[in-house]
Amino acid sequence: MSMQIRLVKTSWDTLESDVLILPLFQDESLEEGLAAEVNRKLNGLLAELRDTEECQGKPGEVTAIYRPPQLKVDRLILVGVGKREEFDTASIRNFSMQAVRQVKTSTLAKVAFFRRSAIDASLAAEAAVQGIILATYQGDDYKTQEKSRDLIEEIIFATDEDVDTAQVEAAIRRGEILARSTNLARRLANQPGNRINPALLAEEARQVAEKYGLEIEVWGEPEMQKKEMNAILAVARGSDEPARFIVLKHLGDPRSDARPIVFIGKGVTFDSGGLSLKPAQSMEEMKSDKAGACAVLGAMQAVAELQVKKNVIGLIPAVENLPSGRAQRPGDVIRSMSGKTIEVINTDAEGRLILADALHYARSFDPQCIIDIATLTGACIVALGHVRAGLFCNNEALYNHLLKAAHRAGEKLWRLPLDDEYRREIKSDIADMKNVGSRWGGAITAAKFLQEFVGDTPWCHIDMAGVDLFKEGQEGKGPTGFGVRTLAQFAAD
Ligand code: BES
Ligand code: ZN
Ligand code: ZN
Repeated sequence: MSMQIRLVKTSWDTLESDVLILPLFQDESLEEGLAAEVNRKLNGLLAELRDTEECQGKPGEVTAIYRPPQLKVDRLILVGVGKREEFDTASIRNFSMQAVRQVKTSTLAKVAFFRRSAIDASLAAEAAVQGIILATYQGDDYKTQEKSRDLIEEIIFATDEDVDTAQVEAAIRRGEILARSTNLARRLANQPGNRINPALLAEEARQVAEKYGLEIEVWGEPEMQKKEMNAILAVARGSDEPARFIVLKHLGDPRSDARPIVFIGKGVTFDSGGLSLKPAQSMEEMKSDKAGACAVLGAMQAVAELQVKKNVIGLIPAVENLPSGRAQRPGDVIRSMSGKTIEVINTDAEGRLILADALHYARSFDPQCIIDIATLTGACIVALGHVRAGLFCNNEALYNHLLKAAHRAGEKLWRLPLDDEYRREIKSDIADMKNVGSRWGGAITAAKFLQEFVGDTPWCHIDMAGVDLFKEGQEGKGPTGFGVRTLAQFAAD
């Protein structure tokens, strides 16, 4: 936690550091410019590497040079960042992350990133700092041997040009705040079901609230019964762990009539499917079914730290979905907080049930908008794979605003439709609706179900089922912390 991050004006070849990350563009000239300087300084090594096709600046290429005698760094890491025209903050974030991951050794105490002038210094600083801090997250919390440690003590953002110091330092701070809150979400999402439950998730939220000055209320089942949050309670029935409803408030706008933004995160600490039990294959991944809640908690931390001048409310319905003699059954009809009745066809479609009550409750704040985020459907993974999260929205202005925030955050969303025809799928014979449709368009019918509870409040729903965990071929392992930066950025804009 005592990590130092500094802006330093220096030329790349006089910089002192353990690690120096130097971005190289694809096919950058060796006649003039930075690559040429590097080549000259290293006595033609870059040209040689290029001949062996090892260091051509292709995106993702990482070449480590150990103790170059001409420099004052222990490792020079050349990272390919692709074409100069395509260089952006997302590539800075990703490639600095990759570079740091390559050198997980004790020599990593001091890491420097050298800025290329192709991109605005503040944006570059924010992204580079984010990438480096995101790379420090390991996820091996429970290893007793060979456990990795957070080794970075100092990060240097280096540039050889005159930049607006105050502005770049503010950007560095932003990057640090956003990356740390993303890592908080990742650490929590990584806790298995025997280590975290609704009560402990609420405890974690309480700690964040105390540390960062958020208001917090945590309700137990008696309070939820009083409020008739029966859809949340119905899901919680099967577990011995009682449900919690967490309300976090950041009051950054002193005006008494300021309408808040509400974030809602699905907090299913473990989703076995309930009586509609899931198959054993990959069921362990359902410990991450609280990733939406973790994203909201991380975003609330960031919003507080960034001292956003708005009122932002974070709601987390937290439950565990298990089968037992007390569990809800397929066919049960529940009366949600809104008064609308739901026929529960499949107890594994539990996320939409707990969100139904949270969405309805959110409306009591008369919010400007509501954004919910949830690992909601396998169908969304079928549609979009592990690259983009699904986005549903009933309001164009809100859609544009959120998409812009996601772009700045480097998180990918893709809009899916909400046509009224899809509503037919969740018609019930005996209640106002049922909780699942047919196999087809499952992410959309889930969103249509949620829409029943938002009325005409501007609302977006993010289905992050495919992007909460890194998959084979992606960078790293474990939770991604997806959503934290988009939500925080949205609130800050
Ligand atoms: N938590 C799951 C969705 C999920 C699946 C997230 C895979 C991450 C990876 C959700 O509660 C669920 O089980 N949804 C069902 C809905 C179905 C019963 C209509 C699904 O997608 O299979
Ligand atoms: Zn489920
Ligand atoms: Zn679930």
